[in-house]
Amino acid sequence: MSSTVYLNGDWLAADQAKVSVFDRGFLFADGIYEVVPVYSGKPFLLEQHLARLHRSLAALNIPSREDAFWQSLIAQLLRQNAITDGLIYFQVTRGAEAQRSHLPQTELNPTIFASVSPMPVHWDIPTPAKVTLCEDIRWLRCDIKSISLLGNIMLKQVAQQRGALEPLLHRDDMITEGASSNYFAVKHGILYTAPADHLILPGITRMWVLELARQLGLEVREEPFSVSDLEQLDELFLTSSSREVQPIGQIDDIIIGAGRCGAVTQQLAEAFHASKQAYLSKES
Ligand code: PDD
Repeated sequence: MSSTVYLNGDWLAADQAKVSVFDRGFLFADGIYEVVPVYSGKPFLLEQHLARLHRSLAALNIPSREDAFWQSLIAQLLRQNAITDGLIYFQVTRGAEAQRSHLPQTELNPTIFASVSPMPVHWDIPTPAKVTLCEDIRWLRCDIKSISLLGNIMLKQVAQQRGALEPLLHRDDMITEGASSNYFAVKHGILYTAPADHLILPGITRMWVLELARQLGLEVREEPFSVSDLEQLDELFLTSSSREVQPIGQIDDIIIGAGRCGAVTQQLAEAFHASKQAYLSKES
């Protein structure tokens, strides 16, 4: 059965939702997106996801809508698709006009698309995965959640060919992030992650894990760790809205922490689940 999606004011079966071939998202990837996890019908860290959505739109000079609009889309998507646990997808492009032109010739109405896909809530800590070191070939505004994901997709293909879950990206000697995740390393009990500058997407899960780490009294440094440090790392994990805290046991031929989930990673994954549980049991 086709899911129900939102497109520019209409609720449609996914296979009936169509955009113009002149949509600037299609022609130029001139747009942004956002992904929000939902547990038991409640969007997790929604305020932070909406703040990032507004920031991405502002960076492109595309007008946004008020929070209540996005909140009502989420409520309707969940209701219409009878989903309680899933991932909400929002995409906004600058819109469409009658001809292709790098700069729009007229004032455009943004194209707004929203959908939801089911994702069961998980409470386990996943088995450590393998990642692969790749040069970060993407542009220099990775802080914008742009729908232009060609670099990310090429890098994910390389990772897939090498039997890895994600690429571990580096610029020169510095680790930046993954193709759809942020990385954290533990060395001598200190937690390191790349700073939220133009070289990474400021992940909402990253931000939440940093908050939990501080609450647990861990020493945290928002400093990049380097390629030359990789062999000496005690632990490595990645974060994202869909994977939450994912331990990493191997980088190409380098085994991290005997390939097992380290103590700090375990502590943070448990704290993440506990915070999710507390959020779910809160009266809304
Ligand atoms: N990706 N870095 C990149 C490049 C990403 O695409 C993502 C998320 C993250 C993690 O962000 P968050 O914790 O807010 O999910 C980091 C989403 C999930 C996607 O592309 O589907």
